[in-house]
Amino acid sequence: MTLRILSASPLVGNHLVTLGERFPTMIIAPYRSVAWTMGLSTAEALIVLLSEPISIQDLERAPRLKVIGTYSVGTNHLPLEACKARGIQIVNTAGVLTDATADLALALLLAVSRRIAEGEALVRSGTWKGWAPDQVLGTGLSGKTCGILGSGPIGRAFARRVWALGMKPVFWDRDGMNHAVDFGAGVARRLPLPELLASSSVVSLHCPLTEDTRGLLDRPHLDMLPAGAIIINTARGGILDESVVIEKLHSRALAGVGLDVYEGEPKFAADWLKAPNAVLLPHLGSATVETRNAMANQLCNGVAEALEAAPC
Ligand code: DGY
Repeated sequence: MTLRILSASPLVGNHLVTLGERFPTMIIAPYRSVAWTMGLSTAEALIVLLSEPISIQDLERAPRLKVIGTYSVGTNHLPLEACKARGIQIVNTAGVLTDATADLALALLLAVSRRIAEGEALVRSGTWKGWAPDQVLGTGLSGKTCGILGSGPIGRAFARRVWALGMKPVFWDRDGMNHAVDFGAGVARRLPLPELLASSSVVSLHCPLTEDTRGLLDRPHLDMLPAGAIIINTARGGILDESVVIEKLHSRALAGVGLDVYEGEPKFAADWLKAPNAVLLPHLGSATVETRNAMANQLCNGVAEALEAAPC
């Protein structure tokens, strides 16, 4: 019997259960368990999380595979070229997590620029002696330039948010085109990367991790940032050279960093824990009840439709 859908992890809401009623041969088996690995040989669809990478060897063990659904907008954990060559369709959750991710990037920016974690720690420490003129001074954002890497839906949603704070958004994108970007609340310039970095008080990453963007913000590029700049990364680890960023936080060349993602997560460099004004989150970009429900709904419907439309 062909196992139509193999899934490794429960999703938020009951969407996976509903999908299982539509495809009764669906099984949920822990990622890389014996049952999961054996299931590959007959599975027509896989459902994975962004923390459950699929390799080319997995594809080779799955001769009937037609669809891979991922509970994420990012697809960097999937062998995209090999899937394309085999005609395996990828279903992701693009669109429904745009606002949640842009909100989290804004939360990180405000937390870093206003030193929220330090202020909160001061109150909790019991050592706060009262208001003082120079206590936990942050950095203002209004009137400053915000460089946004990636002009897709999340980058544009983030631009609307920083525009509302009085910042001037400018964009860079990996296609190298330098035409203007309509981000909904206005139109912003698209700049070559060196020009964007040299003029931005804040740089926020909203581009996917691809061969073009891996290691993009390396030491020479990070050296182009003005003194006291802030970096926000809610995209993917691996785009930013984290060791250079940590060094620049210690030397105060950077005023602060807000990270939601790390290269090799959930492992991350222990040096982050001692880095000044680094706000560190555990990959929460899409983590609202509404968004994770909408992602599960879109993913399960998308996988069902793709399977039903796929040739037998
Ligand atoms: C995604 O869906 O790719 C995001 O990183 C989740 O937060």
